Amino acid sequence: MADCPVNHIAFIMDGNGRWAKKRLMPREYGHKVGAEVFEKIVDYCAAIGIKAVTVYAFSTENWKRPKNEVEALFKLFTDYIDNRTSTLMKKNVRLVFIGDRSAFSDDLRTRMEAVEAKTKYNEKLLYIAINYGGRNEICHAVNELIAEGKKEVTEDDISAHVYTKYSPDPDLIVRTGGEYRLSNFLMWQSAYSEIYVTDTLWPDMTEADVDLAIDEYKRRNRRFGGL
Ligand code: IPE
Ligand code: IPE
Ligand code: MG
Repeated sequence: MADCPVNHIAFIMDGNGRWAKKRLMPREYGHKVGAEVFEKIVDYCAAIGIKAVTVYAFSTENWKRPKNEVEALFKLFTDYIDNRTSTLMKKNVRLVFIGDRSAFSDDLRTRMEAVEAKTKYNEKLLYIAINYGGRNEICHAVNELIAEGKKEVTEDDISAHVYTKYSPDPDLIVRTGGEYRLSNFLMWQSAYSEIYVTDTLWPDMTEADVDLAIDEYKRRNRRFGGL
């Protein structure tokens, strides 16, 4: 497998609603197609040698949406867990959910933990962010440190307690749907990530669009504050 310069890629999968609206379809339809595209893109990232993929599926702010839409999204998440565990095993992918689970039902939490436990020793990493907020994550990390008895915390302490502690920070964050913002995604981890925004709506995302983002990444000069 070719060596890809990007070790960890993250996607803000935005634009499902607009994609559906353009087709005079309900927003939920956009999410359904978006979920299919998510699998295609994650497979492609693995195929080109990317070791870790993070996808933003539901933010701590997305509860503001109509109940129907939220329910449809959670149905997609549950279906994914129920139907994809063996596929993840076959593809050697470790699945880790990132975000605040306290809002979920016991049943959903149990299912999440089961797929995480089952895939724990797989080599590639897939983080799915559900009820994820970057600020929430930093508070969660600090609260864990306080519970451990820390009186003062270091950057390394926080990096070791964020939900994505199983991998280095993302090299590249790709946002579809054309908005130039992070929307509370990976606030801690994105300090030196390269950011790539495309107008492509998530359900239209293709392997070629991933190639374009990586080509652009290769042209970036990552200085990390140096010269
Ligand atoms: C999907 O895109 C991302 C989620 C929050 C699930 P949107 O649903 O935000 O689509 P747009 O931005 O309204 O087009
Ligand atoms: C960001 O998209 C969250 C996800 C992709 C899950 P939003 O559609 O919620 O972001 P805003 O509202 O445009 O900032
Ligand atoms: Mg959106």
